[in-house]
Amino acid sequence: MTAGPLEGKTALVTGGSRGVGAGIVARLAADGAKVAFTYARSKDRAEAVASEVGDNAYAIHADNLEEQDVVSAVAQTAERFGGLDILVNNAGVGSFSAITELTMDEIDSMLAINLRSAIVAIRESLAHLGEGGRIINIGSINAERMPLPGGSIYAMTKGALASLTRGLARELAARGITINNVQPGPVDTEANPANGPSASALLEVMATDRFGTAAEIGAFVSYLAGPEAAYITGSSLNIDGGFGG
Ligand SMILES: NC(=O)c1ccc[n+]([C@@H]2O[C@H](COP(=O)([O-])OP(=O)(O)OC[C@H]3O[C@@H](n4cnc5c(N)ncnc54)[C@H](OP(=O)(O)O)[C@@H]3O)[C@@H](O)[C@H]2O)c1
Repeated sequence: MTAGPLEGKTALVTGGSRGVGAGIVARLAADGAKVAFTYARSKDRAEAVASEVGDNAYAIHADNLEEQDVVSAVAQTAERFGGLDILVNNAGVGSFSAITELTMDEIDSMLAINLRSAIVAIRESLAHLGEGGRIINIGSINAERMPLPGGSIYAMTKGALASLTRGLARELAARGITINNVQPGPVDTEANPANGPSASALLEVMATDRFGTAAEIGAFVSYLAGPEAAYITGSSLNIDGGFGG
């Protein structure tokens, strides 16, 4: 068997218990990496992902609302694997309502989980990442295009991730570390089911006649995590089925 492109690498994926994150965990591991991933509420799902992936996966309980949980997840990963090469900030939530209807809790959760915890994870990971290190944020095409009402704060958090990525590329290039922001369009998960109430409105603004899959996002992330992507940094890269024309 030939070695995968990520053989010898170690990774941490936040929110890997289901959806896009589980797809990323599976692909990074299939490509040879040892992968730690976090979960907050879905313990059983996390255990199922870990047992499906096998020895290369390690589930960690960490609530991205809590700074110390994120600090601890990075430390546990580095300790378990003897280092860290790849950080994927995937955990995210979206509350879709008019700004006059969103509660302060909903707004604070989106800011804390989608943005603040990514900053903390990056800060902590920088103690471990070396030459060839990779940081990949999971943003959203909604940072650039918002065809439906109610997504303003969600889109704002994802737009901020794009700006964070662009800015940090300048700080990290000298250390041989890249940072990129993957912006998926609709992906069939529990957060955005392909048969959900918004599906037909979303498909109307897409070039493809289907949602993406977690496996497709995983493949894209794995490419960015690999040695061939060393010249890509500071970018927001869309994988969105031609969303919004
Ligand atoms: N699906 C889409 O159409 C789409 C499109 C563009 C971007 N995205 C982005 O892709 C990422 C994943 O979305 P998804 O569709 O896979 O969502 P999902 O199916 O709802 O899964 C969310 C994941 O994040 C974890 N998570 C949620 N709150 C957390 C917290 N406080 N601490 C730690 N982990 C937490 C969940 O873990 P637990 O269940 O264990 O809590 C779960 O593993 C998000 O950043 C989302 O914004 C998704």
